[in-house]
Amino acid sequence: MQMMYMKALIVYGTRGGSTKQIAEEMGKIFGEHGYAATVRNAKESGGIDVSDYDVIVAGRSVRALKWTRQATAFLKRNQKVLCGKKVALFWSGRAGDDPVDQGNVNRAMAKVTGAFPEIKPLRTAYFGSYTAFGSWNPVARIANNVMKKEFEKRGIDVSRPVDRRDWDAIRQWAADVAAEAKA
Ligand SMILES: Cc1cc2nc3c(=O)[nH]c(=O)nc-3n(C[C@H](O)[C@H](O)[C@H](O)COP(=O)(O)O)c2cc1C
Repeated sequence: MQMMYMKALIVYGTRGGSTKQIAEEMGKIFGEHGYAATVRNAKESGGIDVSDYDVIVAGRSVRALKWTRQATAFLKRNQKVLCGKKVALFWSGRAGDDPVDQGNVNRAMAKVTGAFPEIKPLRTAYFGSYTAFGSWNPVARIANNVMKKEFEKRGIDVSRPVDRRDWDAIRQWAADVAAEAKA
């Protein structure tokens, strides 16, 4: 007898690769919960037929409070189908683990949820992120210096890259989405 798997699609946007790792970890968790999981960069999500999937997770690292074009384009392109699907959305960024920066978190999340009010996510989350401070890009250098100061204020060691991704929280969230999507 053929096994029937539920199908999960995890689409991520990333600049430096840190959100890709989050998405891949989520893919593993969905696998452990009996799903056939596909993890795909939003840039390469053009040919995907989202109607094939039982649950769709979309996430992106935040830059200047925003998801970038490819990640929002994925929601825009598929919004009609996503309205009738089990969807979860996540963000990753410096503000994600900063208890005093919930204003940044809420504004960044509202930019996406407000743009697609008909997509009703089962769950949303804003995770902490990975910051390597060296960059050639002048805009990124300015942002990195701001982030460095914010981390220093919180007593976080900035002499090496700062990894504030809470893997237990990421795994738990993915497990919760996997369980809820089956309900
Ligand atoms: C130019 C720039 C702007 C950023 N703006 C934000 C922001 O508005 N809010 C936030 O929480 N994090 C912000 N960050 C932090 C990134 O989201 C974080 O470095 C993230 O780990 C990058 O993930 P990625 O490697 O998947 O792109 C910014 C980083 C840079 C370089």
